[in-house]
Amino acid sequence: MNAGDFYKNIFKRKSFHIFKDTEKISNHELENLKEFINNNIKYLDKDIKVKIEIVPEEDTTCKRGAEYCILFYSENKNDYLRNIGYIGEQIDLYLCSQNIGALWFGIGKPKYNYDDNLEYVIMISIAKIPEGPENRFRKDMFKSKRKDLSEIWSGETLNIAEIVRFAPSACNSQPWYTENTGTELLIYRYKKPGKRGIMPINKVTYYNKIDTGIYLFFLETCLDYNKYDYERFLYHDNIEDNNTEREHNKI
Ligand SMILES: Cc1cc2nc3c(=O)[nH]c(=O)nc-3n(C[C@H](O)[C@H](O)[C@H](O)COP(=O)(O)O)c2cc1C
Repeated sequence: MNAGDFYKNIFKRKSFHIFKDTEKISNHELENLKEFINNNIKYLDKDIKVKIEIVPEEDTTCKRGAEYCILFYSENKNDYLRNIGYIGEQIDLYLCSQNIGALWFGIGKPKYNYDDNLEYVIMISIAKIPEGPENRFRKDMFKSKRKDLSEIWSGETLNIAEIVRFAPSACNSQPWYTENTGTELLIYRYKKPGKRGIMPINKVTYYNKIDTGIYLFFLETCLDYNKYDYERFLYHDNIEDNNTEREHNKI
C-alpha cells in the first residue's frame, strides 16, 4: 500500500460495531493480511517489541459477529500505546482496501494468553463484507460525526486538517490538537482529566494514547498524499495527566 492507497481508504473506512450478513475470509485473504503485517507495516518506534496474533472471535470476549480478532501485544516501554495505534491504523486501512470490515475493540480481551513476555494491548475485530451495491463501507465520510475543525486545529489547514479530522478514536473522543505555526505542525494530546463519553476515567489516557498513534498515521498519510516534505520529531508523551496546568501534551 502506498500513500495514495491508504488515503483512498480513509474515505471508505468505518467502524463495524456489529457484523451482519458477512462472508468468510478466504485463506488467500488471510495469507495476504499476514504478509501485509509481516512485511509492510511501519513502526513509530522500532525498539519496541510487538507481536500480532490473529485468532477466532470465540477465543476472545468479543461478541460482535466478527470472524477473527487481531490481537496486539507489546513490550510496555516508551510510547508503546502510540506505537500500537500507528501500526493498527495501517492494518485498519489495509483491511478496508480488501473489503474486510474492522472494529478497534478496546473493551475486548483474549481468553487465552498468546504471549508470555509481552503485554496484551488491544484488538481489532474483523469480518468480510460482501461486495456489491449493499456494501456497507462509508459512502460519504463528511457526514460522520466529528469535532469542528476549530476545536482541533489552528493555523492554515493545508488541505489536510479537513481529512485528518476523520481519524477514528475510542468513543470518538478525538483527543488531538494540531497547531500549524507556519513552519511546524505541533500535535498535542488532550489531557484534561475526566470522563470522555462512556469510557471509564481510568482508561481514558490509555486509549487516548492509542488514538494519537492513529491520528499520526492519518496525518502522515495526508502529508505524503499531498507531497509535502517534512521531518518528524516525536516527543515523549509521559507527563502525568493529572498535572492540570497544561491542557495538552505535545506528542
Ligand atoms: C482505540 C479505540 C478503541 C475503540 N474501542 C471500541 C469499543 O470497545 N467498542 C466499540 O464499539 N467501538 C470502539 N471503537 C470504535 C470507535 O467508537 C469509533 O472509531 C469512533 O466512534 C469513530 O467512528 P468511525 O470509526 O466509524 O469513524 C474504538 C476505537 C478506537 C480507535
